[in-house]
Amino acid sequence: MAPPPPPPPAESLPTCDSKRSISTIAIIMAMQTEALPLINKFNLSLALHSVFPVGVPWVRYHGTYKGLSINIVLPGKHPTLGVDNVGTVCASLITYASIQALQPDLIINAGTAGGFKAKGACIADVFLVSEVAFHDRRIPIPAFDLYGVGLRQAFATPNMSKDINLKAGKLSTGDSMDMCPIDESSIIANDATLKDMEGAAVAYVADLLKVPAIFMKAVTDIVDGDRPTSEEYLENLSAVTAALGQAVSQVIYYLNGKCISEL
Ligand code: ADE
Repeated sequence: MAPPPPPPPAESLPTCDSKRSISTIAIIMAMQTEALPLINKFNLSLALHSVFPVGVPWVRYHGTYKGLSINIVLPGKHPTLGVDNVGTVCASLITYASIQALQPDLIINAGTAGGFKAKGACIADVFLVSEVAFHDRRIPIPAFDLYGVGLRQAFATPNMSKDINLKAGKLSTGDSMDMCPIDESSIIANDATLKDMEGAAVAYVADLLKVPAIFMKAVTDIVDGDRPTSEEYLENLSAVTAALGQAVSQVIYYLNGKCISEL
């Protein structure tokens, strides 16, 4: 019997994706206001030739930082109301379309969130999220209940978490900004420090298409405080998005030249 062929020389072994430097990131955000500090800081330009289907309102800003291709993707505005297309439906669509079109090495879902002071959140804190789940998909049938909650882990970044000083916490996602008592019980069951309207939807798509995803959320309002949510949110939005921009910039500087497996 012929001897087995020798192993290929080391340099011809296929390179594992996680050993290659991160070359493209897609930052999925919901609101133009949230994105502006980053667009300005990295001098990103509005993409004129859309990689998305004709007619959709989705918007991409792009540019490079030391060879790293940065894309910020937003769901754009509602055609008649003129407001940003927030929430899980639009977030999942733009995440899917961005992965298909841009083949990013990493997804960053960055945005604002409500925070629970009982879990240590303060206005303008920026959190690096450890896990995400839904709080408004209640299906009280065995196994469908867990499907509804849709718990997913963020991509683990032990080194980055040590090197960049951000608070850590769990995120709960739903399609409402207010919080009814039954949502509150689900958020408590999710052990969440933060409440947003996109994270778990982005996580679902990233998981489906096997793209690592991290979640950075800045606190605009205290959910368990005494102020009306929308009033507190609007009052803090500008200062908090500046803090979010700073934190995401730190992450971008950190990513430069690194492999996914080094994070
Ligand atoms: N984004 C900012 N604040 C929020 C809240 N309280 N709930 C959901 N999304 C938010």
